[in-house]
Amino acid sequence: MIRTNNYGISRNKLIDSCGRKINYLRISVTERCNMRCTYCMPENGSKKNVSGHYLSFSQLETLVRSAVQIGMEKVRITGGEPLLRPGLIDFLCRIGNIEGLERLVITTNGLLLPYLARDLASSGVHSLNISLDSLNVDTFKSITGGADLSTVIKGIDTALNAGLRVKLNMVPMRGINDHEILRMVNFASQRGIGLRFIEYMPVYRPLNWQEKIISGTEILNLLKNNYDLIAQDRSPLDGPANNYQIIGKHVTVGLISPVYEHICSACNRIRITSKGRMRSCLFSDHELDLMPLLESGEDADLMRIMKNFIVHKPVSHHLHEKNQHYSSFSMAAIGG
Ligand code: 5AD
Ligand code: SF4
Repeated sequence: MIRTNNYGISRNKLIDSCGRKINYLRISVTERCNMRCTYCMPENGSKKNVSGHYLSFSQLETLVRSAVQIGMEKVRITGGEPLLRPGLIDFLCRIGNIEGLERLVITTNGLLLPYLARDLASSGVHSLNISLDSLNVDTFKSITGGADLSTVIKGIDTALNAGLRVKLNMVPMRGINDHEILRMVNFASQRGIGLRFIEYMPVYRPLNWQEKIISGTEILNLLKNNYDLIAQDRSPLDGPANNYQIIGKHVTVGLISPVYEHICSACNRIRITSKGRMRSCLFSDHELDLMPLLESGEDADLMRIMKNFIVHKPVSHHLHEKNQHYSSFSMAAIGG
């Protein structure tokens, strides 16, 4: 179906050159974070960012409106820690009712949820993904660079009490937290919330990164050995997760296997970095700087140029190729 918008440009499906429907935009609104997760940040942490280098909320609003007009149906606000950016809740309220935006969601580390969950619940956000990589106080501290586990658990429970839908994200890493996978299933089941396991991605290409990864297949085998699973259909907005209902538990688990499974053919996402650059693949250095387009105020140009960039989204990453080349990057700037 073709719908028209305020600019007289038709809103349509956005299909890239490989036939993938691209409908999911992830926006990093800040690269600042109050955690230092080992898999996300460089060891010296993310650089302090001058606020002037970020897109303003009014520019971000224009960007979201234009992106929805060209075919985006789901927007995820990420960071860094998005709740650290002052004014975020007002921004969410403004974009939450954009016509055609089917789902507005946010990924957070949960540390600020004890204070902000109620405001988030009334802002129009549909659901939260909360990172939780360990239920052991010390392991949690060592993965996150010193964060307090009990505050995050309080944040999860405050969000649930405020009526928000919550999913947990866990990145299992060999020898670090992989023995906690079943414990995490029980934690999620006790609260009746979703749980997703994400393969560790080698954003800094540390030595022997392959050894650290617990593959999606390995996790699935562990779950199959312990529970009866029912495979779930993928919802068109959910992207490349394989989802399973666990019989006898109140939890659906999702497995995301960006490294070992060839999920690129089902990838529906485009990212905006905290500096306002569009990136159509996590592992491609090719970016489109949106700042000058947003400053010029020509919304029709913005839509045309974004569309052209998205259509040429790379077919897949090349992580397994021997001489693969991509620069290491901060996940916090690009938005996980
Ligand atoms: N590998 C896998 N997932 C990552 N995330 C961030 N960095 C990585 C990585 N290197 C994901 C985690 C976290 C979210 C913010 O981004 O799921 O919960
Ligand atoms: Fe912060 Fe999230 Fe990166 Fe952890 S994964 S350092 S919480 S942005």
